[in-house]
Amino acid sequence: MEQHPTSHVLPDSCDFTVFGGTGDLALRKLLPALYHRDLEGQLPADYRILGVSMSDLDDAGWRDAVHAALETFVAADQLVTPVVDRFLARLYHLRLDAQNPADWDRFHTILKDRAHPENAVRVFYLAVAPRLFGSICQRLDEIGVVDERARVVLEKPIGHDLASAREVNEAVGRVFDESQIFRIDHYLGKESVQNLLVTRFANTFLEPLWNSRWVDHVQITVSETVGIGGRGEYYDHAGALRDMVQNHLLQLLCLVAMEPPTYVGRETVRDEKVKVLHALKPMTPDAVDRDIVRGRYDVGLVDGAPVPSYSDDLGHSGSRTETFVALKTEVQNWRWAGVPFYLRTGKRMDRRASEIVVFFKEPPHSMFPGAEGVTAPNRLHILVQPDEGMRLHLTAKEPGPGGYRLRPVSLDLSYAAAFDARLPDAYERLLMDVIKGNPTLFMRRDEVEAAWTWTEPILRRWSTMPDRPKRYPAGTTGPTAAAMLLERDGRTWQEPDQ
Ligand code: BG6
Repeated sequence: MEQHPTSHVLPDSCDFTVFGGTGDLALRKLLPALYHRDLEGQLPADYRILGVSMSDLDDAGWRDAVHAALETFVAADQLVTPVVDRFLARLYHLRLDAQNPADWDRFHTILKDRAHPENAVRVFYLAVAPRLFGSICQRLDEIGVVDERARVVLEKPIGHDLASAREVNEAVGRVFDESQIFRIDHYLGKESVQNLLVTRFANTFLEPLWNSRWVDHVQITVSETVGIGGRGEYYDHAGALRDMVQNHLLQLLCLVAMEPPTYVGRETVRDEKVKVLHALKPMTPDAVDRDIVRGRYDVGLVDGAPVPSYSDDLGHSGSRTETFVALKTEVQNWRWAGVPFYLRTGKRMDRRASEIVVFFKEPPHSMFPGAEGVTAPNRLHILVQPDEGMRLHLTAKEPGPGGYRLRPVSLDLSYAAAFDARLPDAYERLLMDVIKGNPTLFMRRDEVEAAWTWTEPILRRWSTMPDRPKRYPAGTTGPTAAAMLLERDGRTWQEPDQ
């Protein structure tokens, strides 16, 4: 019997090390998330945050950098001076060249120079290139700072294909037990994504309809307005399929499609998600050609401002990398047989919006002969961002005497309005889960490898094809071929907000 999640407790003491401590992720997401948890009084009484990087900063320099980041990324009404001061006083920085043994000695000294009580926890957050994961873990082991209470957090991507993912998993697994490895997919920390589980399984009205008998199809869209920014080197080796589909979109699909676990526990949810990944229709070369569209943004207007093309952002035009993917797949099991799942994601699109839309079938019989007006099949929108919530589209009678005039109406639930609370960033939940040792919302090794097993034939097929991704003007919904992917099935993409 696995440990029940409620038994995960806050340790008295924690050393939280961020490798890549001066990087974008650390400053934009991790430190602000830890600050928010400190503000709520949720961090262990005795904790230190150690930033490790190649930068020459001393403790004071890193504190200044983090202070500036808090002022940029934390809302002004959440910046409480005594808490900020307390938080900054917990920060230390170490310049570490991974090849230099003397630097590792210094790291060892910092971690060992204070008592490590019975339930103290060391967290090693690797916000660095994945090729360094294995060697950093090995070093941590060699200098003797890994015990059974240590945890390592791996940022995606875990590898760039199945073989390299296995290599990373092997290397990290030589030092840490699987129960100590936390592979982050930050989409799982989003409030609306966690709420998907609650909506499905803590209510009764949806689940009887949640199958091929009543669901026509499902659309999952993650659309971004940003381009590749300063991440060209990483992104051009990844592309939208590896960067977004292999992880975030497949995770969303798993939560929509999975069977109810007996309870939400550290392994039970992950067991069900893996089953969905194994049930995905394999991508044969024909299926890749027929059911996937890849695109790349060209110059265009985003939010009214001109933006450069992908090649301009990258600085050269030889790339074959995609910044947009639309695809059709199926979950081949009893519940979902025959129901298409359409997935779509892209950069430099017309809006920033992530949404899951479940389209229900038409009523089996139309009993309003001569009814005027418009009807549309029911659909449930699960709004992931920017506004988190849910919207159910129904058909209603327009008030008034005479015949039936039918009109679509929507039931709207905005979490912000319903709960009148600040919705925490995904990392806030996930970092606390790491500190408390609860891996439920992290990707298990078999999950990552199952996702790569499904994705890899697509990459292989694309690598043999001479054509490049189809171009789409920035600020649009992607290449027209993506619209045709649905039109040929008699469907259209549901644009967010509609
Ligand atoms: C990251 C990707 O994992 O997720 C980025 O590497 C992407 O390319 C980001 O922009 C999107 O996250 P969010 O939370 O802004 O939707």
